[in-house]
Amino acid sequence: RVLIVDFGSQVTQLIARRVREAGVYCEIHPFNRVTVDSIRDFGAKAVILSGGPASVTEAGSPRAPQGLFEMGLPILGICYGQQTLCEQLGGKVEPGHHREFGRAMLKLAEPCALFDGVAAKGDEVQVWMSHGDRVTAIPAGFKVVATSEGAPFAAIANAEKRIYGVQFHPEVVHTPIGKQLLSNFVHKIAGCAGDWTMKAFKAQEIAKVRAQVGSGRVICGLSGGVDSSVVAALLHEAIGDQLTCVFVDTGFMRSGEADQVVSLFRDRFNIKLVHKDASDLFLDKLAGLTDPEKKRKIIGATFIDVFEEEAKAVGGADFLAQGTLYPDVIESVSFTGGPSVTIKSHHNVGGLPERMNMKLVEPLRELFKDEVRELGRELGLPDDMVGRHPFPGPGLAIRIPGQPLTRENLDILRKADAVYLDEIRKAGLYDQIWQAFAVLLPVRTVGVMGDSRSYDYACALRAVTSTDGMTADFYPFDMAFIGRVANRIINEVKGINRVTYDVTSKPPGTIEWE
Ligand code: XMP
Repeated sequence: RVLIVDFGSQVTQLIARRVREAGVYCEIHPFNRVTVDSIRDFGAKAVILSGGPASVTEAGSPRAPQGLFEMGLPILGICYGQQTLCEQLGGKVEPGHHREFGRAMLKLAEPCALFDGVAAKGDEVQVWMSHGDRVTAIPAGFKVVATSEGAPFAAIANAEKRIYGVQFHPEVVHTPIGKQLLSNFVHKIAGCAGDWTMKAFKAQEIAKVRAQVGSGRVICGLSGGVDSSVVAALLHEAIGDQLTCVFVDTGFMRSGEADQVVSLFRDRFNIKLVHKDASDLFLDKLAGLTDPEKKRKIIGATFIDVFEEEAKAVGGADFLAQGTLYPDVIESVSFTGGPSVTIKSHHNVGGLPERMNMKLVEPLRELFKDEVRELGRELGLPDDMVGRHPFPGPGLAIRIPGQPLTRENLDILRKADAVYLDEIRKAGLYDQIWQAFAVLLPVRTVGVMGDSRSYDYACALRAVTSTDGMTADFYPFDMAFIGRVANRIINEVKGINRVTYDVTSKPPGTIEWE
């Protein structure tokens, strides 16, 4: 396994992704928590030092533990990681005269194991640079193995000690050779086996869950989303009937979704499943409300109440299972305030474990989203379930802005949304889109249908591309496609007589309308 020391780069997670894609397990630890002992305890076979926003030329900027360099482990420093390792081993780093950012051509000056199979001496390859400072003198024992116009020490190596540094970012897709370079580091240089697969992970996680839970009882909130579905399937395989799933049906789900969840998990997987239709209660609690944050708060609190009640009704449990993912767990190094630690709170069941005196089972804590999807497939979940678009906890309740929720307007929205998604699937576009949905607008507009005047709702269609939901762009549908969807919605959904397409990116917009 490989330890990645995080100096706060925005792309540190990508290093972990690439290493895992090479079949080697790795974890990201913040630099201020890493010591020689922690590296040893982790059992690291190699260490990667990430990039970061600080400057090694500033007093008090982060460093790797000095003892790391005496441990005999292979080390790869990336960007800031290269600069700090140079500085710590007696080289020199100076503020760059110009910042080098974006595409650069790298020229190989020496044969080097890092570049095995990708480039030979004299070759030029494209890499992605993003740095202000640069190394101006390398430590004793090191050789320059590659140069670029802005970075005369773009890659350096001490092959004997197996310590390497690169000024560019091998982890990003704009460095096409990067994947092979990282694979060379973990396999050829560090000698890691590359046998970490999802099948192996599944077996290991099942064993872990069994050891943690023993003969205890576990309760799991199932929403029909990818994460909770994978947790449920995994736990069921691990502990069978010791697991009970509770599906709190808010009434804000999409068309047919509640039935799908019940038939998949209860009928096909044979999981003990409580399906609580709480739609009346949710509608009651939200009666007359339009403020998005108030709605969210009430939905969250009501969800917890219902979940707790249902959990008690089945006799309680010792453990609560949650679909927490690795990006929620990584203690990231903040960019401005020094080594502060942020951990995102997760899921609708916040506060429940304490309230009900339950311990947590979080079998996805080490996985990225697409690894969760792969694990889902490994567990036999259908493709359309594991490939599903994200869907917010409050569901359709935050897609009817500006007017109080009623069964009627929820039904209208649900129908329009179903037509839209159906057309997206038929056009083969579903997997190219991060998220697509309809929004019911609080305006009525005049239309003419047949020989009569109509005065009905307008709806907006939204579809975005994104990699993490933090930024997004609207999906550039063909106008003919939008026209087809609009036509079907107006013809098939009573209550809507006008359709618009939302072309706002995020920022400045958000993905949802409220
Ligand atoms: P925004 O609208 O903030 O959405 O650009 C980013 C992503 O988060 C989802 N989202 C939510 N998910 N509870 C959730 O579980 C919420 O209250 C919520 N609000 C937004 C949104 O669907 C998108 O994927």
